[in-house]
Amino acid sequence: MKLVELPLLKTKRLTIKLLEPRDAHLMVAFRITNKIHLREWEPERSEEFYTEKFWLIQSKMTTRQFQNGVSVCLVIMDVKASRILGVCNYTNIVRGTFQACQLGYSIDHAHEGQGIMFEALQAANKYIFDNIKLHRIMAHYIPRNKRSGELLRRLGFVIEGRAESFMKINGMWEEHILTSLINRE
Ligand SMILES: CC(C)(COP(=O)(O)OP(=O)(O)OC[C@H]1O[C@@H](n2cnc3c(N)ncnc32)[C@H](O)[C@@H]1OP(=O)(O)O)[C@@H](O)C(=O)NCCC(=O)NCCS
Repeated sequence: MKLVELPLLKTKRLTIKLLEPRDAHLMVAFRITNKIHLREWEPERSEEFYTEKFWLIQSKMTTRQFQNGVSVCLVIMDVKASRILGVCNYTNIVRGTFQACQLGYSIDHAHEGQGIMFEALQAANKYIFDNIKLHRIMAHYIPRNKRSGELLRRLGFVIEGRAESFMKINGMWEEHILTSLINRE
């Protein structure tokens, strides 16, 4: 296994890093608190998803997948890293001629509308381009998810198309708007 330095990003209001085993209980708190808030925008979740056991395993997998260059799944925390405020996951990393990944994200209900996800994604996207050396970050949103569309627009993502029946969200195959941010450097 090739050892790569683990991400640790700092912004004015945030610490952004991989989920560590010692933070598994914070992830459970984030997931339970936001169960209803996130239901409309995420896949259906099993009961296990809300347990510490699940997130302990997940934290180990996240590190392994990072080391293997498969994904960069980040937790967005307050400056002191005492609470999880959200997540941003860069998955399905493809190399070769593509050099691209897919981005998914969500913020705690109580922290929505404060520019926190924008601040986090500005830093994380830069990390993905500068350190992971990808050329394209792809993000998709359901047309009625206006907050998500607006966030991506402000971050510089460009709409590239529309795909019918694209992802199974909350038990339904949903149409999505397809967007990308390209590394121009
Ligand atoms: C999509 C999602 C992450 C967007 O979060 P968000 O908080 O609206 O996004 P931003 O971080 O860009 O914040 C924008 C808001 O913060 C405000 N803001 C910007 N900078 C700010 C600052 N420094 N201080 C305070 N507020 C600020 C903006 O005016 C805007 O407010 P408004 O929504 O009242 O117009 C969030 O709605 C969410 O998690 N939704 C559920 C999951 C989901 O949909 N995921 C994406 C699936 S595609």
